[in-house]
Amino acid sequence: MNAPHSPSPLAAVPLAPADPILGVTEAFVADTNPRKVNLGVGVYTDDAGKIPLLECVRHAESERLKTAPPRGYLPIDGLAAYDRAVQELVFASQQKNFVTVQALGGTGGLKIGADFLKLVRSDAEVWISEPSWENHRQLFEAAGFPVRSYKYYDPASRGLDFNGMQESLNAMPAGSIVVLHACCHNPTGVDLDKPQWEKVLEIVQSRGLLPFLDLAYQGFAEGLEADAYAARLFAGALSPVFLSSSFSKSFSLYGERVGALSVVTGSAEEATRVLSQLKRIVRTNYSNPPTHGCQIVATVLGNPQLRSLWERELGEMRERIKAMRKRLVDAIQSRVPDADFGFVLKQRGMFSYSGLTKEQVRRLRAEYAIYTIDTGRICVAALTSKNVEHVADAVARVIR
Ligand code: LMR
Repeated sequence: MNAPHSPSPLAAVPLAPADPILGVTEAFVADTNPRKVNLGVGVYTDDAGKIPLLECVRHAESERLKTAPPRGYLPIDGLAAYDRAVQELVFASQQKNFVTVQALGGTGGLKIGADFLKLVRSDAEVWISEPSWENHRQLFEAAGFPVRSYKYYDPASRGLDFNGMQESLNAMPAGSIVVLHACCHNPTGVDLDKPQWEKVLEIVQSRGLLPFLDLAYQGFAEGLEADAYAARLFAGALSPVFLSSSFSKSFSLYGERVGALSVVTGSAEEATRVLSQLKRIVRTNYSNPPTHGCQIVATVLGNPQLRSLWERELGEMRERIKAMRKRLVDAIQSRVPDADFGFVLKQRGMFSYSGLTKEQVRRLRAEYAIYTIDTGRICVAALTSKNVEHVADAVARVIR
């Protein structure tokens, strides 16, 4: 114990800034305005504004509760049936040289992968898209890597700067780790098409880059198969490939933290060694993963009826988001006819990179209790029939 007047050993701890995404939710929760709308964090709500509990999940959960299973420890790398189901869903096959470990959400998959890569590629640079999900930079920096940005988004066309992206990839030092959004780019919603993915693969191979794919939204752009195109293309063509995936969105299981890290290795023997290291990382961080979410996902994916129910529910979420994009664009354009928001309809996934400035975002929050991310990213998956007109009114006012 310190002497009564000695300074606390924590006296110099600086105050960390609020998280750019989850910090917005904290501010939203504290707001008492009954009309408040949270378009910050990437969470899907149904048209009643509720985070849905999918029917397929409800079925799997009630079956599980009936058997009142014991809650022993899972293996360090997670539930085997779950890990196999992830491989099937993402890569459409399981192979001896594929390694999958259950992780605490997609973020957990990224972090296990980042910590592992620090062991084997300690001098590498990590490259993320400009812009990228806010947590990518923080996470890879926290793992000890310098993080740099490659060209991706073109604000003028509100689309992909593919020439710029290729230039950036071609200029990366050999051995760099390149983080690629496999579908539904976060935050822009701007994705590569198939020929562009093929070109990126070619550059990655010729430059000796190490791809780390982030697949957090499989099923939210076009469908489970189409959205896995990049993952399967890369896994079929080279090793190693790192890939983090998540069921937070596609199963609406956000808080259960159900994700994975998969690594495509060069041989079954290499896979065994890689897995042994990944297990050490898990064991020294949180020992082994939680039991509930992975059981639910494995049950649904392993049961043909539940699986087709899930695919239907996932399709409904995807279609509702598209409908909300259209409602938002129509509602803004009816108020500001010369504003062209058509680009919102081309973006894929949960987000729209709206082009709103930080100042406009601040006004939305202060004057209308509408919460979005400072970059202008809007979670269109949280728009509803009830709030979309209010949001359009507010956007129309701040852009006039
Ligand atoms: C988001 O981008 O809002 C989501 O992926 C949630 C998160 O963890 O940031």
